[in-house]
Amino acid sequence: MALSKQQNILLIISGGIAAYKSLELIRLLKKDGANVRAILTKGGSQFVTPLSVSALCENECFTDLWSLKDETEMGHIRLSREADLIIIAPASADLLAKIAGGHADDLATTTLLASDKPVTIVPAMNHMMWNNPATQANITKLREYGHTFIGPTEGDMACGEHGMGRMSEPQDIFDHLKKNSKPNPLSGLKALVTSGPTYEPLDPVRFIGNRSSGKQGHAIAAALSKAGANVTLISGPVSIPNPKGVHTIHIETAAEMLEACQNALPTDIAICAAAVADWGAETNAHKIKKREDGALPVLALKENPDILRAIATHKKRPNLVIGFAAETENLAANATAKLAKKNCDLVLANLVQSGAESVFGSDQNHVYLIDANGSQDWGKVDKKAIAARLVAEIEKRVEK
Ligand code: C5P
Repeated sequence: MALSKQQNILLIISGGIAAYKSLELIRLLKKDGANVRAILTKGGSQFVTPLSVSALCENECFTDLWSLKDETEMGHIRLSREADLIIIAPASADLLAKIAGGHADDLATTTLLASDKPVTIVPAMNHMMWNNPATQANITKLREYGHTFIGPTEGDMACGEHGMGRMSEPQDIFDHLKKNSKPNPLSGLKALVTSGPTYEPLDPVRFIGNRSSGKQGHAIAAALSKAGANVTLISGPVSIPNPKGVHTIHIETAAEMLEACQNALPTDIAICAAAVADWGAETNAHKIKKREDGALPVLALKENPDILRAIATHKKRPNLVIGFAAETENLAANATAKLAKKNCDLVLANLVQSGAESVFGSDQNHVYLIDANGSQDWGKVDKKAIAARLVAEIEKRVEK
């Protein structure tokens, strides 16, 4: 299976004569297949122009926190969320001080403060500025925050002096990044996950539902996002929070879940972990009343759409479609039959037990991975561990 993989890099160029070297760095990163977005600070734009930067990035160059156009089209939150790695090159003494102090008064500092992505800093400044105890204290702090440094090096400076503070050469920065970067394995891929129960209304106050907590589906969405995928989670009513960094859409009925899934296509991966109600009911506009004569209401049930099957047979079918199978008997045989019936690539199957052993709401589950080659017992483990293992399986299939 060939699925494209791409490293998303956000380059922040601050004010310094070495800013010209960043243009060469963009060229090297682009040649290597990276998707590069750039923020040029006010100081940076005194040395290189937004036009040169955007022409080399083949992306718009972002400059202003207060630009209505930039914030509407991209925004500082999206700039940080959609990056796998942030590189600051050149990083001026002033920008280092601002980041170390947690400032957020322009697009670069606000994006950095709003980010949990790895940050690599490539300083460039006069040797006295570099050796100044204030700069060194900022560097110590930034290292403690987990930021990585490349350089500076020692040599002749643009100001005519000699010493430590020269920005590393673009090829050296690139080689260092290549050596140390482990690109997010699912970066550049889109994934759709369904999770939780569906509620099928009988009347304005009652519904048919089930005990699904959404823990497994939400854990899978979070793990996919951590691996770099761009994830849309379609969730039925649950009491757990939306996973961080995941675009979550809340629905109630199976019909709404199907519509939201169809709108989310095309994606590269789809995982249906939701416990979709098999039947809905004809909804009464008013609350169904108890009858004086004691006669019971007759509920007219209708079959719900099979969302997994609809996705797996869709003309925009994702490359990898994964379903779940909760069975009460003949686990392997039933789950293998489901693989073919629903046209999916993998099924995670589990035996459903009632009472204390129930998987619903529990933090653990005992699953088997079923594919065309057979079945693997994953044992009884935490739902988060199942999510991580499933993502590892997806990575293997993506690499093929
Ligand atoms: O047929 P069964 O309900 O056992 O299949 C379970 C799998 O199918 C799960 O992945 C579930 O999310 C999905 N499913 C669905 N739409 C339905 C019923 C099940 O997507 N209406």
